[in-house]
Amino acid sequence: MEGKQPIGIFDSGYGGLTVMREITNRMPEYDYLYLGDNARAPYGPRSFDTVYRYTLEAVQWFFDRNCSLVILACNTASAKALRTIQQNDLPRIAPEKRVLGVIRPTTEVIGNFSPSGNIGILGTSGTVNSGSYPIEIEKFFPTAKVFQQACPMWVPLIENNEFNSNGADFFVRKSIHELLLKSAMIDTILLACTHYPLMLGKIKEYSPADMTIITQGEIVARSLDDYLERHPAMKSRCSAGGIREFFTTDSTEDFDNHATTFFGEPVRSRHTVLGQPQEG
Ligand code: DGL
Repeated sequence: MEGKQPIGIFDSGYGGLTVMREITNRMPEYDYLYLGDNARAPYGPRSFDTVYRYTLEAVQWFFDRNCSLVILACNTASAKALRTIQQNDLPRIAPEKRVLGVIRPTTEVIGNFSPSGNIGILGTSGTVNSGSYPIEIEKFFPTAKVFQQACPMWVPLIENNEFNSNGADFFVRKSIHELLLKSAMIDTILLACTHYPLMLGKIKEYSPADMTIITQGEIVARSLDDYLERHPAMKSRCSAGGIREFFTTDSTEDFDNHATTFFGEPVRSRHTVLGQPQEG
């Protein structure tokens, strides 16, 4: 055995902690390493090239720390960078390692939640403009109709701890209204951004009472559990010491203050840099 091999979990900022929370609830036994690239968040409005470059730097950071399996717990990074990393970079830099995203596990099941097959997607501009959700959902639920709405203000509100403010009410109501204008048939809304569960209360408040609202954390956790069962060689490489470590590219004090809300328990982070040679 090669010593400690944590499962890596990555997000542009805090959002991935909503996924890590569900993963660690389901599989507390493994070691986990979380990285939030808070210094460069949000990723949503950035170009394909930039999101790809930032995400690849993060993946390399995890590989340098002995992770064999990395989860991109960020829809924007999954939409804009995952495929290129899987197809072009992994075979070259680490053919025995794996990087997984959050879009595939979600699109595999989302149609099961919608009796009418009319699904609304709320995400960042990057995720929505990539077209990843309609394309992937069509593969698993070919008759489903998918309607998307970008919510460019939501991640900044959440990253700036304004998600409980009156300003947040305005933007939540506006984006949901714009989504529902696209079809009165929508019966299921997917929160296709790992930050959005923080605003679940407001999102429910401004949605019709009978709307089904889906968050991704549990779906991704279940899918990862299945993946490890189906890949025993990978499972045996993931060390099971129950250790959780957190890194941020920005202020650790800010991270620790915010992260508790996302993760549900106190977090003590360390600072790191991406895209530069790492200090020992
Ligand atoms: N949590 C990321 C996602 O799921 C937020 C992206 C951003 O930084 O804008 O898309």
